[in-house]
Amino acid sequence: MTDIRPPLAVLFVCLGNICRSPLAEAAFRAEAAKAGLDVVVDSAGTGDWHVGKAPDKRAQAEARRHGIDISAYAARQVTVRDFARFTHIFALDGDNLSDLRAIAPAGHKARLSLLMDMVPGREGAGVNDPYYGGPEAFEASWADVSAAARALVERLAR
Ligand code: 4NP
Repeated sequence: MTDIRPPLAVLFVCLGNICRSPLAEAAFRAEAAKAGLDVVVDSAGTGDWHVGKAPDKRAQAEARRHGIDISAYAARQVTVRDFARFTHIFALDGDNLSDLRAIAPAGHKARLSLLMDMVPGREGAGVNDPYYGGPEAFEASWADVSAAARALVERLAR
């Protein structure tokens, strides 16, 4: 059968692009690969403090616990052009969503929503910022983003 759907491109956005959104990117890449879903994937931050840096060591360790190496990821700041490049943009929390709405160009076509809206029963929830927490905060972030990644792949693969 001919695939008439436009290409999928998914962007995950948090504050620093060194903790939550790289984990979301990693979890989603893994789930998409498992499902054979052809999709462009990236992550970005609303802030610019960590641009060019690899993910936080604690995020790297959490991803590694799940068999994924994210050490080569490099943080970048979200730009207005992302609203044309991506079909779906997911904010990790409500502040990230407000910040994205504030820079969204009028008439953009990207679907912009909270990541946890993908998970039944978790609609409206944010993924807590683990930056000032311990390893258990990163574990909680992974649990959230991997649940969302599974739900998202299921939706997009339909
Ligand atoms: P992220 O976590 O938004 O999940 O990447 C943070 C990283 C850095 C800072 C805050 C949150 N920071 O304040 O530098």
